[in-house]
Amino acid sequence: MKSNKLILLLVGVAAFVLAAMLFAPPSIQDELEFSDDAGTLARGEYLMTAGGCISCHRGIEHEQTFSGGLGLESNFGTFHVPNITPDADTGIGGWSAGEFLRAMKHGRGPSGGFYFPSFPYRSYAGLTDEDVLDMGSWLMSLEPVRHESPAHETPWWLIRPAVAGWNVLAGLNDPPAEEFENELVERGAYLARNLGHCGECHTPRNSLGIPIGGREFAGAELGEDTIEAIDAVAMEEWTFDSFDLFLLIGLKPDGEFVGGDMNEVLEYNTSKLTDADRDALAAFFTRRRQED
Ligand code: HEC
Ligand code: HEC
Repeated sequence: MKSNKLILLLVGVAAFVLAAMLFAPPSIQDELEFSDDAGTLARGEYLMTAGGCISCHRGIEHEQTFSGGLGLESNFGTFHVPNITPDADTGIGGWSAGEFLRAMKHGRGPSGGFYFPSFPYRSYAGLTDEDVLDMGSWLMSLEPVRHESPAHETPWWLIRPAVAGWNVLAGLNDPPAEEFENELVERGAYLARNLGHCGECHTPRNSLGIPIGGREFAGAELGEDTIEAIDAVAMEEWTFDSFDLFLLIGLKPDGEFVGGDMNEVLEYNTSKLTDADRDALAAFFTRRRQED
């Protein structure tokens, strides 16, 4: 009897420690600040483009703004993208720089709540703090727009605290360590995996919606649609130049233009990259596998 109680107690303590670890909001330095330096704002604006934020956050009622409202269909319901203009009530106007960083890299709201991974924070987790703060500084410099996004339409069992487990299983904050052959490829990897979040669509997921390890960019199913693989095997026929041209205008080596959701990625993101960043993505995706 006694030892049973002891085991129960130990299990209870272990569960408590585990829960505390899972639910404790990551600590962020307090001294982080947004900046209004012109160079920072220009970098922030560019990074927002390379991060594809407007694809999801564009204003449905207030065009050309980040006031949100778009409904993202997924296998887990419809997620309505929030307003990220600096409006104090309906946007992120009241946020500190630390809170912005915690949202972007840890998927946690200002009061510690969990975001759903329909916000690609798992990809953004690998961003440098500097890049994130530059983006936040630029957002804070915009005109505030008042607009409340509708609530998400998700199944009853999909609750925010469950995302704590998802984050652990999905290896949030656990980026793969990799050596790159040169700086161009390294920059390309950062653009592909983190800022440009190409894997959010091109990497297959398991039934929990977690990207499958070891199958990065191997293609995925999204509802009825198939999203092509863009891994080393799939890119066998593509050259550096053909990939570069694709990122600019969407023309594939077989002479066809790409379609579907990739058009938005082209329009809002890759066609607006600097030549150097387009080159970096092309170098990353068309590097040949090492030994074979
Ligand atoms: C694939 C669509 C998508 C992309 C791309 C995207 N977001 Fe979001 N974002 C969302 C969704 C959906 C949410 C709300 C998640 C939730 O409610 O759990 C969100 C939430 C946020 C929040 C929290 C807002 C709040 O009011 O709590 C911030 C800040 C944010 N995104 C910034 C960005 C930035 C900056 C970028 C580009 C680097 C970006 N997002 C790219 C879909 C996206
Ligand atoms: C919002 C989802 C989404 C994101 C993010 C995305 N893609 Fe795509 N991509 C697609 C879809 C869908 C297609 C297939 C379109 C079609 O049916 O023609 C595609 C097609 C492609 C193709 C053509 C493949 C082929 O063989 O036909 C390439 C190359 C590609 N994407 C590269 C990228 C790169 C590089 C990134 C990151 C900068 C990226 N994609 C991000 C959805 C996405």
